[in-house]
Amino acid sequence: MNDTRPVKSDSAKAVPTLPDAQTVTSVRHWTDRLFSFRVTRPRSLRFRSGEFVMIGLMGDTGKPLLRAYSIASPAWDEELEFYSIKVPDGPLTSRLQHIRPGDQIILRPKPVGTLVLDALLPGKRLWLFATGTGIAPFASLMRDPDTYERYDEVIMMHTCRDLAELDYGRELVEGLPDDPLIGEIVAGKLRYYPTTTREQSPFMGRITDNLRTGKVFADLGLPPMSPETDRGMVCGSLQFNKDIMAILETFGLREGANSEPREYVVEKAFVG
Ligand SMILES: Cc1cc2nc3c(=O)[nH]c(=O)nc-3n(C[C@H](O)[C@H](O)[C@H](O)COP(=O)(O)OP(=O)(O)OC[C@H]3O[C@@H](n4cnc5c(N)ncnc54)[C@H](O)[C@@H]3O)c2cc1C
Ligand SMILES: NC(=O)c1ccc[n+]([C@@H]2O[C@H](COP(=O)([O-])OP(=O)(O)OC[C@H]3O[C@@H](n4cnc5c(N)ncnc54)[C@H](OP(=O)(O)O)[C@@H]3O)[C@@H](O)[C@H]2O)c1
Repeated sequence: MNDTRPVKSDSAKAVPTLPDAQTVTSVRHWTDRLFSFRVTRPRSLRFRSGEFVMIGLMGDTGKPLLRAYSIASPAWDEELEFYSIKVPDGPLTSRLQHIRPGDQIILRPKPVGTLVLDALLPGKRLWLFATGTGIAPFASLMRDPDTYERYDEVIMMHTCRDLAELDYGRELVEGLPDDPLIGEIVAGKLRYYPTTTREQSPFMGRITDNLRTGKVFADLGLPPMSPETDRGMVCGSLQFNKDIMAILETFGLREGANSEPREYVVEKAFVG
């Protein structure tokens, strides 16, 4: 007699063995310090673009080794994308950098964070300020139609030491106009201002210096930031965040939060 039992599909075979397991679907290495990867998305996971979750691997002691990671993909994407540093002796990333498609990671489905549109008052222009992997939450926000519904113009300033470290953001921004889902919405509204600080490139200098001197306003043909029209989101090292907050305050912008929306919001790209 023929066996009429249903044949299990490949996905049915991939039984999660980790708590909150998600499966890696693709990995791309950008430099020897940076990589991005995509994982399956828990069906129940809802998040606001710009938020972060805890992800990780099982530690040697049998306890999950988790770190905060900004979700780099937009809320409408059926997978989740992350953009990561590789810290040579970092407890998590010394191992995470070796993941391959089909591997599993742990993802705690509790998104939180301050870099959300709801924490800002309405305005005309939205400035996104990032150093290094701090571009990750903005990779999500730049792909969210809501960002362009709320603002006439979005300006992405990203600074890294070297040109190769800008590639993830550059490829994303350059591909957006051709995106079948949001290309039309983004067209003409997203301005991109990448700079390097160590390697020679057409645009150089720290974000803070380019704001203080007014170079970025002159280059983009925009007036200096003002609390009436401009909003800011900041994501970088602790010192970068402190320095840029001081500058934004001189323009008259005040820090906001989910509970009290104002003119700018800040989040650390890493601790330390
Ligand atoms: C809210 C929040 C969101 C974060 N989102 C991301 C993200 O999207 N992508 C990401 O790569 N990291 C992100 N991080 C940092 C992340 O949580 C880990 O620190 C990082 O993955 C390294 O983990 P580790 O265990 O290998 O080393 P850790 O022991 O965690 O870090 C070792 C040292 O490496 C340096 N370091 C850590 N992370 C970075 C980084 N991203 N860039 C430069 N230097 C770093 C610091 O000096 C730190 O003290 C985020 C951190 C916070 C607080
Ligand atoms: N990137 C690398 O090639 C590299 C290699 C080995 C080790 N590391 C280590 O890894 C850690 C993180 O490196 P990272 O390059 O990701 O981050 P980073 O050192 O914070 O630098 C990222 C970018 O932000 C700029 N920046 C730093 N502090 C700033 C501030 N207060 N105001 C304005 N701009 C600021 C830097 O400019 P400046 O260049 O002017 O500082 C650089 O262009 C550091 O401890 C670093 O020593 C980095």
